[in-house]
Amino acid sequence: MTHSKIPLAGVIGCPIAHSKSPQLHRHWLKMLGISGYYIPMHVETDDLETVLGALPRAGFVGVNVTVPHKEKALSIADLVTDRATLIGAANTLIFRKDGRIHADNTDGYGFIQNLRQNAPGWIPESGPAAVLGAGGAARAVIASLLDVGVPEILLSNRTRVRADALQQEFGRRLTVVDWVQAGNMLDEARTVVNTTSLGMIGCPPLRVPLDGLREGAVVTDLVYTPLETPFLHEAKKRGCITVDGLGMLLHQAVPAFERWFGTRPTVDSATRATVLR
Ligand code: ATR
Repeated sequence: MTHSKIPLAGVIGCPIAHSKSPQLHRHWLKMLGISGYYIPMHVETDDLETVLGALPRAGFVGVNVTVPHKEKALSIADLVTDRATLIGAANTLIFRKDGRIHADNTDGYGFIQNLRQNAPGWIPESGPAAVLGAGGAARAVIASLLDVGVPEILLSNRTRVRADALQQEFGRRLTVVDWVQAGNMLDEARTVVNTTSLGMIGCPPLRVPLDGLREGAVVTDLVYTPLETPFLHEAKKRGCITVDGLGMLLHQAVPAFERWFGTRPTVDSATRATVLR
């Protein structure tokens, strides 16, 4: 296999039609004048290993993996970054020239870069963070917040055992709060994150009382449909600095694009506009 052919990349999921990644990567390929392609691929779980084994031979330099393949992709990979191990899932695979598959997870990186870009005064060390939700997305958020120096994380989830499991794993900087008490976490929090699907178009609203939100706290929502969720709208009214979730999607793609195509793309208003189109 040679990488001197036109490089191919793509995203593997099931379903995959909704993915915004093709628009995003194709925009960067065009802007940077790179002759590559990025292709959405609907692959069933039982076929994942076979497909991943074959793609390098067809000229693929790597792929993104999304729901439901993020955990399985990690187990198929030959090499795994520390952050992918910590998160327990892969979102980016690099097909190396020696034939080995290298797995990474850039979701936490994307989450942090989004806050750094859109809340430039954010100081993670300034106080506790409150995280709502304890699913797959919460793992990446928690790992990255701890990594950038948030002193303590208060975590609440409807199904408490999932939050307790994360507490066991990530340790003493995490404190679990009952879902019915979730509003109480907000009093001290300087960073507040919704990682649940609540507030997304077609999902129920987030009903956690927000009276405790501190003025000046940085508040973000992983939900980006709508861009301004009712949660962000309410936080803004209370004087918080709000950051929508679309930037996380954009920023998590940067390291992957750079590894595959050799040039680091930038996330700017044109990038956002492309994905919103
Ligand atoms: P993701 O990978 O996006 O995190 P997930 O692992 O399915 O997806 O997690 C979804 C999150 O949204 C979970 O925290 C889930 O809470 P449970 O663990 O109790 O299921 C949360 N969530 C989804 N629907 C919810 C609802 N109606 N009320 C409260 N939390 C909800």
